[in-house]
Amino acid sequence: MKHCMLIGIGPGHPDFLTLQAMAAMRRVDVFFLLEKAGRGKDELLALRRDIMRRVRPDGGYREVRVPSPPRPRAVDLDGAAYRAIVADWHAEKRRIFAELLTRELGDGETAGLLLWGDPLLYDQTISMVEAVVRTLPEPVQVGVIAGISAVQVLAARHRIPLNRVGESVQIITGREAETVDPAQVHNVIVMLDYNASFRRFVGQDMEIYWGGYLGGDDEVLVAGALDEVLEELLRVKARLRAHKGWLMDTYLLRRRVQGAD
Ligand SMILES: C[S@@+](CC[C@H](N)C(=O)[O-])C[C@H]1O[C@@H](n2cnc3c(N)ncnc32)[C@H](O)[C@@H]1O
Repeated sequence: MKHCMLIGIGPGHPDFLTLQAMAAMRRVDVFFLLEKAGRGKDELLALRRDIMRRVRPDGGYREVRVPSPPRPRAVDLDGAAYRAIVADWHAEKRRIFAELLTRELGDGETAGLLLWGDPLLYDQTISMVEAVVRTLPEPVQVGVIAGISAVQVLAARHRIPLNRVGESVQIITGREAETVDPAQVHNVIVMLDYNASFRRFVGQDMEIYWGGYLGGDDEVLVAGALDEVLEELLRVKARLRAHKGWLMDTYLLRRRVQGAD
């Protein structure tokens, strides 16, 4: 029997590894590293390899690196067109996982995929690998290790709970933030925002808690009334993106409520 561990590694610093993630990594014979294209590629790969060396200082594992097809952004496409390109992207990734599990993993061995943040949030690797495994002739047992997500680190860094008393919290993409009615938003986390979609919420009596490169050595935080910090936030984002060539950010938009805690 082959084994495949999908391991959440937290959002950008080895300190976020859980004991469970470290134990799973110690069982791995071969790490599959899917390399994204673009300017952040080397940094993101270096981080995962640093984590591997820290947990496995004596080595004893193989490493297989494959280019990862780029995530479609296409904020301008309508829902159906967007879903179609995401389906193509997933099909290509499933093809890669099938090849890796067939050719690069021996019987009795364990493969490890180190997944950013928490693999249960805005990451379809679990469903893709599960779908692939159902098609393979030999059995592969899949295991999932939850991780700390960028959402949790955002809240911790700003020293706020995710929800106020009795309130719910929603997690949406930048794509959704582009179309949602701002008047309906009370307490929402936005991820995968390639467009500074928080601009749509100006004049709505909102607070924003923003974090870039959360958990990493370059972490940047901005918080305040959205109308007041908007210009600063746009400047910070532009500067960071120009400096590193890539930016991962997450933010909470929260409607101000008199007397709320
Ligand atoms: C594909 S999703 C993966 C989320 C990940 N599974 C998690 O639990 O954090 C990528 C998005 O997560 C957020 N993200 C991930 N790491 C981050 C970080 N270190 N700082 C800020 N946002 C981050 C950003 O919104 C980014 O666009």
